[in-house]
Amino acid sequence: MDRFFAPGPNHLFVPGPVNIPDHVIRAMNRNNEDYRAPPIPALTKDLLEDVKKIFKTTTGTPFLIPTTGTGAWESALTNTLSPGDRIVSFLIGQFSLLWIDQQKRLRFNVDVVESEWGQGANLEILAEKIAADRAHTIKAVCIVHNETATGVTNNLAAVRRILDEYRHPALYLVDGVSSICALDFRMDEWGVDVALTGSQKALSLPTGMGIVCASPKALEASKSAQSVRFFFDWNDYLKFYKLGTFWPYTPSVQLLHGMRAALDIIFEEGLDHVIERHSRLGKATRLAVEAWGLKNCTQREEWFSDTVTAVVVPPYIDSTEIVKRAWKRYNLSLGLGLNKVAGKVFRIGHLGHLNDLQLLGCLAGVEMVLKDVGYPVKMGSGVAAASSYLQNTIPLIPSRI
Ligand SMILES: Cc1ncc(COP(=O)(O)O)c(C=O)c1O
Repeated sequence: MDRFFAPGPNHLFVPGPVNIPDHVIRAMNRNNEDYRAPPIPALTKDLLEDVKKIFKTTTGTPFLIPTTGTGAWESALTNTLSPGDRIVSFLIGQFSLLWIDQQKRLRFNVDVVESEWGQGANLEILAEKIAADRAHTIKAVCIVHNETATGVTNNLAAVRRILDEYRHPALYLVDGVSSICALDFRMDEWGVDVALTGSQKALSLPTGMGIVCASPKALEASKSAQSVRFFFDWNDYLKFYKLGTFWPYTPSVQLLHGMRAALDIIFEEGLDHVIERHSRLGKATRLAVEAWGLKNCTQREEWFSDTVTAVVVPPYIDSTEIVKRAWKRYNLSLGLGLNKVAGKVFRIGHLGHLNDLQLLGCLAGVEMVLKDVGYPVKMGSGVAAASSYLQNTIPLIPSRI
């Protein structure tokens, strides 16, 4: 019935899964293929080479795994660590919490550094722990680059500086699920040992592919890591890489063709331009939030996320109602507040294949919902703040100059 009563596209503003470009949808609309016949290994070879660019690595080894972000986490941990290994992990929101839960269930000795939700990773505590760890008992530092639940972006370069300052050999594992391909991310420069993302986030593909990239140091660690693994074992992939057939088990050929199209679009726009576009969308959203008189869940500017904004609502409003109402009345999908911030925030995802005018549509929708739930918003205030900024900053479309 939706097709009669909700014409036009759904306005998808959850922070993943995100909109898929038409070109990518068309590239995936195909029959299955024999993945052992020459075209799929040839396609895979190029994808493995090209995907390194979104991690900004030349020395890393990528793995395209039929999984989601959660599986990519497991791949990163089990290939590089052994049960009982001490790891330092930052708890700053729901996704870092889930990763820590996985780390504990996989039997690592997790040294949790907790911050209030809305704050970034506490790097002073990291520095203290690293400085005190002369015996190098810390085997890895795990951090979520962009905490999708609160809209907090951590400073990855600063973590590397701390490790370097104390010449600490801990592996550096980064969840880039809601950052890679949207925020500035530099695997080689920041000495990240394992970085990972999921296809449904900024790459703008369907869910189903985990993309994990391992540094030479991480590959070396995988030779002695004792964690039980089968499906996620990098070694199985590496054997098939050597053979030139690439796949230890059946890949989704549709996703591979989709990934080819998605990377082509990203490289055509230029990764740096993609990152600039996200920074513009992030800033425009924050200006709207300010104009509505609402607070950003993220407590300091240094942590503001350009892929997701978590908006704090006044105590007399339940943010769940905002999300429900947005979907029921305006065909607008916003992100719920999760766990500790459930009912207190709603999230606007602004990542992936998305443009400025789409964002303005979302902001107009949010204003109407805010009014619906009894918040005294000045209609048009957020849209005006965002559009004034965008009007000054949107570049001409290069292909139309
Ligand atoms: C930062 C972050 N890490 C990990 C995950 C888990 O990914 P998935 O749901 O694909 O398993 C998510 C999901 O939103 C996320 O935002």
